[in-house]
Amino acid sequence: MTGLGEAAVFLCGPRAGGNSDTAGLTFAAALAQAGLPARVVRLRDERIAPCRGCGVCAGPGERCPLDRDGDAAEALFDLIEAAPVAAFAAPIYFYHLPAVFKGFIDRAQRRYAARLAVAARAPSSPARPAHALLVAGRRRGERLFDGSLLTLKYFLWPLSRELAEPCLLRGMDAPGDLAADGAALAAVAAAAREAAASALSAGPR
Ligand SMILES: Cc1cc2nc3c(=O)[nH]c(=O)nc-3n(C[C@H](O)[C@H](O)[C@H](O)COP(=O)(O)O)c2cc1C
Repeated sequence: MTGLGEAAVFLCGPRAGGNSDTAGLTFAAALAQAGLPARVVRLRDERIAPCRGCGVCAGPGERCPLDRDGDAAEALFDLIEAAPVAAFAAPIYFYHLPAVFKGFIDRAQRRYAARLAVAARAPSSPARPAHALLVAGRRRGERLFDGSLLTLKYFLWPLSRELAEPCLLRGMDAPGDLAADGAALAAVAAAAREAAASALSAGPR
C-alpha cells in the first residue's frame, strides 16, 4: 500500500468496450503496475440526475436539491478531489464530450459556486494534475478537442485539479481500433506511469 489512497479513472463514454474504455483501462492497468491501484468508475452505470439550473447552489448553504436518493454525483466529486491521480477517458461526440459525461460535469455547478465564493475571500490550495484521454473517429480537424479541453479545465477548477498534457487519440472509430494500435496504447500507458511516478514522489496530502 502506498498510503495515498486509490487513484480514480473515469470511463466517460456510453459504449461499453469502446475505444475510450480501452484508453481508461490501459491507463488504470499501467497505474497499478507502477504501484498505484485505481478505482475505475463507469459513468454510464452511475445514477446522476441532470442539473436543472434551479440556482439553489448559488444561494446560502450552496445546497444541490438533487443530492439525495442515491444520486452519485457528490461522492464522485469527492473522489476526484481526494484521488492521488484522476483520469477521464471519453470519446468525442460532435466536437465535444458525450452527454453521459456532460451531465456529470453540469452537476459540478454546486462546487463551482462554492469555489467562487471561497476564491473571493482566500487564495486556493495548489491544484493537482488531472489526465484527459480523448478518442475521436476523425483523423483531421485542428479544433477537434478544443471544446472538450476547455470544458474540462473549468469543470476541474473547483475540484482543485488542473489538466496535464492530454492524450489525444485520432482515427479511433470502430470499437477495437485503439486496442489494435500498439503505439497509441504505449503512449497512454506511458502517461499513466508518469502520473503515478509524480503522485508517488509528491506523497500524501
Ligand atoms: C454521436 C456521435 C458523435 C460523434 N462525433 C464525432 C466528432 O465530432 N468527431 C470525431 O472525430 N468523431 C466523432 N464520433 C466518433 C467517435 O468519437 C469514435 O467512434 C470514438 O472511437 C468513440 O469512442 P468509444 O469507442 O469509446 O465509444 C462520433 C460518434 C458518435 C456516436
